[in-house]
Amino acid sequence: MNIHDSEKIAGMLKSLNYEETETKEEADIIVFNTCCIRESAEQKIMAKIGDIKALKKIKKDLIVVVCGCMTQQKNMKENLKKKFPFINIIIGTHNIEELRNYILSLSAKKKTILDVWDKEKEIREDIKPYRTSKFNAWVNIMYGCNNFCTYCIVPYVRGRERSRQVCDIVEEVKTLVESGNYKTITLLGQNVNSYGLDFHDGKTNFVYLLNELCKIKGDFKIKFMTSHPKDFSPELIDFIASNDKMSKSIHLPVQSGSNEILKRMNRRYTVEKYKSLVDQIYKKIPGATLTTDMIVGFPGESDDDFKKTCDLIEYCKYIGVFGFVYSKRKGTPAEKFENQVPINVKRERITKLFEIQHRISNEILQSMINKKVEVLIEDESELYFIAKTDSGKTVRINKDKDHKLGDICSVVIKKILSKQLVGEIV
Ligand code: 5AD
Ligand code: SF4
Repeated sequence: MNIHDSEKIAGMLKSLNYEETETKEEADIIVFNTCCIRESAEQKIMAKIGDIKALKKIKKDLIVVVCGCMTQQKNMKENLKKKFPFINIIIGTHNIEELRNYILSLSAKKKTILDVWDKEKEIREDIKPYRTSKFNAWVNIMYGCNNFCTYCIVPYVRGRERSRQVCDIVEEVKTLVESGNYKTITLLGQNVNSYGLDFHDGKTNFVYLLNELCKIKGDFKIKFMTSHPKDFSPELIDFIASNDKMSKSIHLPVQSGSNEILKRMNRRYTVEKYKSLVDQIYKKIPGATLTTDMIVGFPGESDDDFKKTCDLIEYCKYIGVFGFVYSKRKGTPAEKFENQVPINVKRERITKLFEIQHRISNEILQSMINKKVEVLIEDESELYFIAKTDSGKTVRINKDKDHKLGDICSVVIKKILSKQLVGEIV
């Protein structure tokens, strides 16, 4: 989500004739697109903004912008202004698309602009992103979140769910596919499964949108993130299973393997429900792979709760797990929960979680030997192509004259060398 927001910011800067520079010293404008989902992200960005102080002293005309979800928090814009008086523009997530206008008005007035909107406005369709990834294009299908998981700051800083119109999304994807540059379209939303429900028209939903997108002619795959397990419908499973354009790699954040913790996280599903969803996915979608997000050290998480998380990881056989240490976020319900877990316990648990996942990922890689998989050739060296499987695993293949970057081809996995799959084109 943030990467794509940055692409939109870059698009606005390009429209003002700015070009990318190699170093920050060469830049005329520096934009910090911030994230506040965990404290560590916030600390990193604060340090980076601080680093600019010396540069701004030498280069008086340098424009410094801070935007994104960090600024959207209570009192943050005032704190930023006080701590870093050299910032020229501070805006939030709801007016990020106005950045172009702020820059233009700044050059006229040369005064600090501090404007963070509290509320979301109409979705803007006139911002052309400057796309940076080679074969994948990110496409927002909706913004905001209505779920209020008790640990999460997103609903407070990104507002309520708003869906883009089907026709606008179809038009964007069509243009991307027709450009011939993109082989994967990744649809973005905090909870893509509730796409279109805000239209209340009894027709538009996520599967409806996917069906419209799959009608677009061309050689491309559709991925999406992020899904909420409580809203992942049987129709969606059937649709993915039956449509060649749908990627079979699914990101299904579970967050914990303990019902007690899930309840206090306000996730609104049980471990049993989640497991049966996973069973259905593996049963109905041949070749499906799963990834997930897990939080360890949520307030009150006991050794037994954590053991249940480890058990769930074993059960689901994820190809990848994004594990996070719980981070207190101001204004969220969990901030006030009792029994916060000590940091050393959190660290021990995340290390254990990664050990388990590492073993499972290796087992999955081993099980791929002698199997045929489809890959996308994304990069090359003198001797090899570097390709990616549908699930994002890297495969090294010997170069041949019949293939080139951007091709999708079938390979048989032969071995694993330094944790990398080695395949042969068939
Ligand atoms: N602490 C740790 N991880 C968090 N996430 C969201 N909020 C927090 C928090 N306060 C994680 C969740 C989510 C992912 C994007 O970030 O796992 O799925
Ligand atoms: Fe945060 Fe995702 Fe929960 Fe929304 S669904 S509150 S974005 S974790």
